[in-house]
Order: sequence, then C-alpha cells, then structure tokens
Amino acid sequence: MDADAASFAKTVLGWYRRYGRHDLPWQRQDAYRVWLSEVMLQQTQVSTVVPYYREFIKRFPDIRQLADASIDDVLQQWQGLGYYARARNLHKAAGVIRDQHDGSFPQTMEAVEALPGIGRSTAGAILSFAFGQHWPILDGNVKRVLARCFRVPGWYGQSDTMKQLWYLAESVTPAEGTSDFNQAMMDIGSMICLKSKPKCEACPLKKMCSSYRHHSQADYPQKKPTRAKPHKRTLMLLHRFEDQVLLWRRPPSGIWGGLWSLPEVDGERDVDLWQQSFLSIKQAPQKIQQDVIRHQFTHYSLGISLAIIEIDKLPEKIFDADNYVWVEIEDLASHGLPTPVRKLLSSLQD
Ligand code: ADE
Repeated sequence: MDADAASFAKTVLGWYRRYGRHDLPWQRQDAYRVWLSEVMLQQTQVSTVVPYYREFIKRFPDIRQLADASIDDVLQQWQGLGYYARARNLHKAAGVIRDQHDGSFPQTMEAVEALPGIGRSTAGAILSFAFGQHWPILDGNVKRVLARCFRVPGWYGQSDTMKQLWYLAESVTPAEGTSDFNQAMMDIGSMICLKSKPKCEACPLKKMCSSYRHHSQADYPQKKPTRAKPHKRTLMLLHRFEDQVLLWRRPPSGIWGGLWSLPEVDGERDVDLWQQSFLSIKQAPQKIQQDVIRHQFTHYSLGISLAIIEIDKLPEKIFDADNYVWVEIEDLASHGLPTPVRKLLSSLQD
C-alpha cells in the first residue's frame, strides 16, 4: 500500500472512531445477520431496514429455519420492503447453504459470490464485517465517494470506469481494520458525501478530495450523457373558410393517435400536391409562420410551422372524408386536440 493510500485509510478510520455508526443491530453479529442486513440494505435505507431486520430474525433465527421455511412465509415477512427478488434470492441461497455448506455461511469469496443475490460488493461487505477478511466494497455510496475524491471519469455503466473504481477501492482498503474501514466508507457516503449538496466541510477526506479542490463535486460521478434528440419539422396546414377550420383525425396508432389535428406536409412545396389530392383545390398559403411551436417528444423534438390558407369556397369533396371535418372555431374546444395544436389554434379564438 502506498503512502497516499495509507493516509487515506488512516484518515477514514480516525473519522470512523469518532463519528461512524457503531450500534446498528447487525454489527458484530454472525454472518447470517450480516448477510441479511446487507441484502435488506441493498435498495433500502437504514432507518427503514432496522424494524424489518429485527422481525425477520425473530421469525427466522438461523439459516436452516430460513431455508426450511416456505417462500410464501419469507415473502410475507419481506412485505413492504420492496424488490422482492431479494427475498427470493435470500431464500434460495439459504437452501444452497443448508445443502452445500452444511448450514454454515461460507467463508471464501468464491463460494459467497456464487450465492444467489450476492455480487462482488455485497460479498466483500459480508466477509469483512462477519469474518474480518480483507476485501474492498463498492456499493452506490462508496462509488460516489471514490468517483469524487479521485475525479474518476465516465459513468458506472462503463467497464473502464468500474475497473478504475474497483482498482481504487482495492488500493485504499487497508488489511487491518477492513471492517471498520468499509463501514466508514458507507457512512461517509450516506451521511456526508451526499448526491446533492454534499457536506464537504464535515468530510474527513476534504484535504485529499480532488473534486473538493477543484470545486467540481457536482460533476462527479459523471452522468451518462443523454443523446441529443433528433429534430424533425412539419408544416401544419390551417385551411380556413369563414369561421371554420379543417381538422384531420390522426391515425389510431403513432403520435397523438386518434386525436384531431391539422393536416401535415413536409414543407411548403408539398402544399399544392396535398390540396390537389385531398381537396381538389389550389390555393397558395397567404402566410407561413416558421417554427411557431417546438414540441418535445421522448425521442425527438418537433418544430411546427404553420401555413395559413384562406379559401373563399368550401371544396365540394374531401378525399378520405371520414377523417376530415370542418369545425367552427368556437367549437374547437369540444374536439380532442394535441396540446401544441390546441395552442396553435387558440390564437384564432381571440
Ligand atoms: N448500506 C449497505 N450496507 C450498509 C451498512 N452496513 N451500513 C449502512 N449502510 C449500508
């Protein structure tokens, strides 16, 4: 271990003695209790877990009784904690421990990681807390502490980032006092190095924290960049005859499925063709308003331009007449319209 890593560990352990959590009900208990608590804590806060943990231990005091219980009884005891796959895996793993490990919780990394529902970090936590073994952990809280302290680039979905975080976790985790160190890192992550508004002034690591030094706590851990949405354009046709406008009913599937809207074309040069095909008329737009509304869909943004076309005679026939209707402007409200189209048309009512 190099000098920086040694001083990191020493600082964390010194902080733990004074400020860390020492009296959680599963601390300094057997591996079954540590395991149960770590599984419950995987997606749930300490304060929620404590009463569930106590009741669970009362109902299933050891691994054999858990293994021999029915899954229904286990799930019932888990009720309210959520993420029920955790309970199913716990029960399955208890069976494996009963059948393959003689009912005793295994003590090698290989065997623990092979149990259902236990990944590398949970295995490290259990082996260090229950048996004092030297393994690093990297749960959500610890990832954040390390990503900030060492300004680790990238996001958790990237294998290079995870490799670097595991490498750092291995480097800073001391062989002596591993259990206290691991608990301290979880405590710093959940009490000080908060996702937003971290309490840096209270942090024992602030002198070594690269993000603190660069005022870049908010930039780490880096977030997966959201892909820029593609931008599409459409030209909506507002045909107006006296106080009526022509609406089009959109196809039942796709965006705004089944809602009344305005007929659309790709651009101005398609207006002619559309009118010939659907209305058998020819009337150039009197006015085109470019990009009047920009609407955000989940996967793209849509710039809507509006062609205003006043006609002085109702067309005799509309092709696909079932899906077109002339509507009095004052009756627009009684038609189901997409919000941006409603906004576009609301100016007509003034
Ligand atoms: N989250 C996961 N394990 C924990 C533990 N042992 N203490 C506090 N929070 C935790």
